Amino acid sequence: MEVIIQPDPASASRVAAQILLALVTRKPNAVLGLATGGTPLALYRELITAHKDRGFDFSRVTTFNLDEYIGLPENHPQSYHAFMHENLFRHINIQPDRIHIPNGNAPDIQAHCLAYEEAIRNAGGLDLQLLGIGSDGHIGFNEPTSSLGSRTRTKTLTRQTIEDNARFFENDPNQVPQHCITMGIATILEARCALLLAFGKGKADAIAATIEGPLSAMIPASALQLHPNAIIIIDQDAAAKLTLADYYKEADAAKPTWQQDHATAP
Ligand code: GLP
Repeated sequence: MEVIIQPDPASASRVAAQILLALVTRKPNAVLGLATGGTPLALYRELITAHKDRGFDFSRVTTFNLDEYIGLPENHPQSYHAFMHENLFRHINIQPDRIHIPNGNAPDIQAHCLAYEEAIRNAGGLDLQLLGIGSDGHIGFNEPTSSLGSRTRTKTLTRQTIEDNARFFENDPNQVPQHCITMGIATILEARCALLLAFGKGKADAIAATIEGPLSAMIPASALQLHPNAIIIIDQDAAAKLTLADYYKEADAAKPTWQQDHATAP
C-alpha cells in the first residue's frame, strides 16, 4: 500500500490527477473505473482543465462506474448517471459508447450485473479503479460485511450511508434509495491499480482502519491490503488517526526517482 498524505484536498486531488493522466498518456485506451461522491470532484475538475486547456485526449478511454442507485430515473439529478455526466463526461471528449454505469432500472438486475462483469472483462479489465470511502469503510456501495469475494450485485444501504448521503437529497433520508448496484470487492481488487481518495476528519477512523486495522469485511476498504498496487491519497485531516503517518510521509519524501511516477500500473 502506498500512502500519500497531502496538506489539503486540492493538492491531494492534483497528485491523483497526475497519476490518472500519466496512465492515459502511457495508455490512451486505458480502462478507468470511476467513482462518485464529493471526494473525486476536484480530481474531475483537474481532468476537465487538462482537456480544455491542454487538449488532453480522452477519446479512446473506456470507463466503468462503481455503482448506481436502484430505481432512481437516470435523469434524476442525484443518479450517478447524472452526476457523472454533469461533473465529468459532458466536459471532456469521452465517447458515449465507451461509458459504462450500472443500470439501476434494468428489467433483470441480476442478468445486468453479470453482463457488467463480462463487459469489464471484455474491455481487458480495469487499469485503474478510483475509489472514495464511506465513513463506515465502504468502497463502491460494498457495505460492512460485504464478502471480500463479491462481484457486481445489488446491496442494501446501511442506515449510516443513507444518513451520510441524505445531504444530496434535501437532507431527507427517506428520499435516499435503499438499494443499489455495486461492483463487488473482488471486482475492485482485480483492477491493476486501486486509487483511493479520502478527505476530512469524518474519514479519519475509516482510513486508519483501512490502512492499519485488520483485514476485515467489517471495513470493506481494508480489502485493499490485499491489492499489490493500492495507492491511498489523503489530506491531513483524514490522516489524523494513522499511527505511522510520519513513516508514510518520510517514505514518500525519500522515494527513489525511478519510483516517483506513482502510476506503476501497466
Ligand atoms: C457513496 C458512494 C461511494 C463514495 C462514498 C463517499 O456512498 N457510493 O463510492 O465513496 O459515497 O462519498 P463522499 O466522497 O461524498 O464522502
